[in-house]
Amino acid sequence: METIINDRLAKRSSKKAAAGNDDEDLLGVLLNLKDTDDLGFTEIKAVILVSHMDMFLAGSDTWTITVEWAMSELMKHPRVMEKAQREVRKVFNGKGCVVDEASIDRLQYLQLVLKETLRLHPPGPLAIPRESKETVMVNGYKILAKTRVFVNLWAINRDPHHWTQPEVFEPERFLNSSVDFRGTDFHYLPFGAGRRMCPGMHYGLALAYLSLANLIYHFDWKLPHQMKPEDLDMSERFGIEVKRQKNLILIPAPYHPR
Ligand code: HEM
Repeated sequence: METIINDRLAKRSSKKAAAGNDDEDLLGVLLNLKDTDDLGFTEIKAVILVSHMDMFLAGSDTWTITVEWAMSELMKHPRVMEKAQREVRKVFNGKGCVVDEASIDRLQYLQLVLKETLRLHPPGPLAIPRESKETVMVNGYKILAKTRVFVNLWAINRDPHHWTQPEVFEPERFLNSSVDFRGTDFHYLPFGAGRRMCPGMHYGLALAYLSLANLIYHFDWKLPHQMKPEDLDMSERFGIEVKRQKNLILIPAPYHPR
């Protein structure tokens, strides 16, 4: 990392990226601060390390876990797979078979599938911990000031007070419903809510839609060893992220539109 910082400093001194105007990326911005504020090399390295860890961990695992759960649910529910696949192929067959971002918003049913996947399988089951500023009562519980609170998004998304048959995968439950990802419906919070809500939501959703649409457009999928959909193991491995307990193993057959 030191080599990268030194290279950048050398470039700045050659006036290509004049100090103070170097705001192309995070490193440039931090070096500008070093020029004007009390920011040393150690702090710069720490900020870069932590923010990259944040972005890489939060940015890569989350949406891939979501795609894996979505594929699992589609395999478990052939009716839903058929409907989603029909929609994707209808939209993209007329577009030279290229599944691109431009037409993703026409995949209305796939959006319901992803909403329902994120309800049952939010990759981050717990929101970032919060600390109460003052003593408050919540649902009859007294929460003292300065208490560290963990909000269980996973449990909220399955709360039987808000969802009928919460354990059932039913994308149609979101049809004609205004509930969405923005963190304003407090019974559905796959991306959290408030100030610390996920900043990568739109990016993560775009990646998930695009990958899923490509997977189900280009391939027909089968379970191995004549396994029946009802036998597919959906156990979760609980942790900071909720992944599948066992890898999802599927057999693809390429789809060739006539
Ligand atoms: C399907 C995809 C994703 C889901 C379900 C998801 C979910 C979440 C959740 C639940 C939180 C905690 C929010 C809270 O406590 O209120 C969070 C935080 C965060 N997410 Fe995501 N995320 C996704 C994709 C991404 C991507 C693609 C990025 C970056 C490129 C990203 C970056 C972050 C960061 C940096 C935080 C911490 C925010 C903070 O500390 O204030 N996420 N995410």
